[in-house]
Amino acid sequence: MASKKLRVGVIGVGSIATDEVHGHIPNYLRIPEVEVVALSDVNGRRARYGADRFGIPYVFTHYRDMLARVDLDAVSICTPNYLHAAIAVGCLQSGVHVLVEKPMALTSADARRMVETAHKHNRVLLVGMNNRFRDDVRALKLIVSQGAIGEVYYLWAGWLRPTPHPQLGSWFTSKAQAGGGPLWDTGIVMLDLALWMLDFPEPESVFGVLFTELSEQIGGEGNPLIAPTEESPYPVEDAAAALVRFKSGAAIRLDVSWVSRLKKADDIYLCLDGTRGAAELRNPVEGRKTLRVRGELFGTRMDLEPHIEESDEPSHLRELQHFVDVCLGRAEPLVTPEQGLMGVQIVEAIYRSATTSRLVCFDEGLYQLGVEMA
Ligand SMILES: NC(=O)c1ccc[n+]([C@@H]2O[C@H](COP(=O)([O-])OP(=O)(O)OC[C@H]3O[C@@H](n4cnc5c(N)ncnc54)[C@H](O)[C@@H]3O)[C@@H](O)[C@H]2O)c1
Repeated sequence: MASKKLRVGVIGVGSIATDEVHGHIPNYLRIPEVEVVALSDVNGRRARYGADRFGIPYVFTHYRDMLARVDLDAVSICTPNYLHAAIAVGCLQSGVHVLVEKPMALTSADARRMVETAHKHNRVLLVGMNNRFRDDVRALKLIVSQGAIGEVYYLWAGWLRPTPHPQLGSWFTSKAQAGGGPLWDTGIVMLDLALWMLDFPEPESVFGVLFTELSEQIGGEGNPLIAPTEESPYPVEDAAAALVRFKSGAAIRLDVSWVSRLKKADDIYLCLDGTRGAAELRNPVEGRKTLRVRGELFGTRMDLEPHIEESDEPSHLRELQHFVDVCLGRAEPLVTPEQGLMGVQIVEAIYRSATTSRLVCFDEGLYQLGVEMA
């Protein structure tokens, strides 16, 4: 007899739910152990469209109705950022496993509540960090964890997008709904990769800066794409930089931008300096992806630039397969809720530092404002 399938619902039927390559719904449909039974979106037309396009039987405009009326094992939360925490807690409390898109939450208090609820109800809470499932990232993680470049003490990570951001005017540029600009969009993703390479050491302090000058400069009447609207007055940063120091002495430098004039296409990078070598991963969206490693492998010092073959399997599909495996008790989560919480705490501290012009120090999980810098 065939084993019971994991019954999944998807909350928020926008682009990351429906995209043919990266989307949750099409990718769940590629996993034989999954049955997508219901969709929920406040925009009923979007939910209906998704259900018709993918052949999903049940449609709701409120996720609580979906939880009450359909027997589900798991959900994906693909709504705007500000809704992630409340919806995740509601789903976990009703006994459903949760895959929540990044960012997990917009405050550490919310993220902590999600972690506690997942533990209390013994449910899986996986944060959607699909970049951890990329071939080049996995290869780099393996090389680093085998000690090929020694102890990593300095890591700089960034995601520079050329101007203008493609979704200006949507919820992505509303502080209330997105929480902020590129720090919550791509910054949290690159920070997660950097923290993972360092095995999530204990943070000591954070210093951050935010920039809005470029959007102001290129905005205005002459440019309707950038000009603030009443619904979305572009109150978020368009670039940010931060230095995170750890108790081990290691440090991460993070740079993110939605309006960088340095590049013509996205530039995504992770550079690591270690006590016995160095590594660099560059992942331009247009252009050649590279992984370079100078260190010791198989007892021999090497300068490597391996050719990473593009897999047909998108990292998003691997992430969903992993979520399913964790729900079915076949795998331990690669991204733990506590790791998600640490990312949120650091991004929150970057904003706090930037808006107070102070160094923010962590003390047993609580922030303390440090020395005034200016
Ligand atoms: N991992 C990735 O590669 C990746 C890529 C893009 C977006 N994301 C994340 O996915 C999330 C969604 O982004 P998107 O680009 O799909 O946005 P989107 O605007 O295309 O879709 C969001 C959908 O949520 C719906 N929605 C709003 N409020 C809701 C509610 N209360 N209940 C149910 N549905 C509701 C909207 O109607 C919309 O259909 C964001 O958190 C974003 O950060 C992740």
